[in-house]
Amino acid sequence: MWHSKNSKFPIGLDISDLSLKFVQLNKNGDKINIQAFSKYNLTPGIIDNGDIKNPQEVIKAINYLMANPIFGKVTAKEIVACLPNSKTYIKSIAIDKTPNDLENIIEEEIEKHIPVSINNIYYDWQTTNNIKNKLRVLIGAGNKNIVEQYTNLFNEAKLSLVALELEPVCLCRALLREEHYKFTDKFDKNYCLIDFGATRTNMTVYSKNTILFTISMPISGEKITENIATTLKIEKKQAEKAKLICGFDSNSAEGIIKNILTDVVNKLILKIHQTIAFYQAEYSDNGPINKIILCGGGAYIKEFDEIIAESTSIETVRGDSFINFNIPSQKESSSNKIFSNGLSKLLNENLSYTTAIGLALREIFINDI
Ligand SMILES: Nc1ncnc2c1ncn2[C@@H]1O[C@H](COP(=O)(O)OP(=O)(O)OP(=O)(O)O)[C@@H](O)[C@H]1O
Ligand SMILES: [Mg+2]
Repeated sequence: MWHSKNSKFPIGLDISDLSLKFVQLNKNGDKINIQAFSKYNLTPGIIDNGDIKNPQEVIKAINYLMANPIFGKVTAKEIVACLPNSKTYIKSIAIDKTPNDLENIIEEEIEKHIPVSINNIYYDWQTTNNIKNKLRVLIGAGNKNIVEQYTNLFNEAKLSLVALELEPVCLCRALLREEHYKFTDKFDKNYCLIDFGATRTNMTVYSKNTILFTISMPISGEKITENIATTLKIEKKQAEKAKLICGFDSNSAEGIIKNILTDVVNKLILKIHQTIAFYQAEYSDNGPINKIILCGGGAYIKEFDEIIAESTSIETVRGDSFINFNIPSQKESSSNKIFSNGLSKLLNENLSYTTAIGLALREIFINDI
């Protein structure tokens, strides 16, 4: 589709309990470039488990963020955002092929699969593929209350909300080649995406070019930092630094940080095993998980990928949030022009920005279809 050189793509805004992050993109021919990006740390409590407790403070933070980017200049007032994972549901279900009204059947299925009354959610669905005599349908839903909080927030901030997505959808758009709008090969691969964030860890199983389900759990980078601070009796700021430097190194800090990390990562490994067992039981025709892809700031924990690979016997990699940018691979692109002038920060921390990048890519992809 043709669009003028002045066209302005919406801002992808990732609202978390402890931070706001945004990425705005632009496009030159087939080449996607970064228009602007930034991050702002929020005061704890103004957003709690996705609930916006203090909208005025969040609006102030959004305004500051947009006016003071780490890189570039914001050129749009349109926003693509996503709902907090703990308040949304996404699941691929199989229903009998039937000439009857699909809408009614899906409503009944939603009642069975989503642990919230259908009166309290907004939902959407789409058919994905056929299996034998069944039809696969991907259903997504968000609590009405949280959707209203988010739409009110943007109204009050005088920003125009283009779309409110589910986070697993934008993570897949950023991290998987299969999600590029020009992707035509049939990869047929099965992935487990793990987003290890500051306040939660979310696992998404993606199989044969579609999301199957997501699990959200209270395992977090922030908890690790708090444990380090309490155990070593140091300030949280120092604990955060120690976490980044030491990772699983048993020679640093007498192995104390390694022990704390091991404790948390073991909990995560248990969850991964449970999730894979559920996947194998529920989607037995889809074959084994081929790859685990890590994202979120927690993915940068030293040796994290190796530990997960060893305990699951599944290839485990840190993701590349620029995989769908039609640019050379991440390593090659560090010398690429688009990553000079402050953009190297985005390159180095791209796994913290995966959600924002996936959100920003939405209209870039739609615009070209
Ligand atoms: N090199 C590193 N080693 C260990 N932890 C890291 C590293 N870099 C970032 N982190 C951790 O990653 C977390 C931030 O990740 P991220 O930016 O993905 O969180 P978020 O998106 O704000 O949170 P959430 O998705 O849970 O709402 C912090 O806890 C931070 O300490
Ligand atoms: Mg996050």
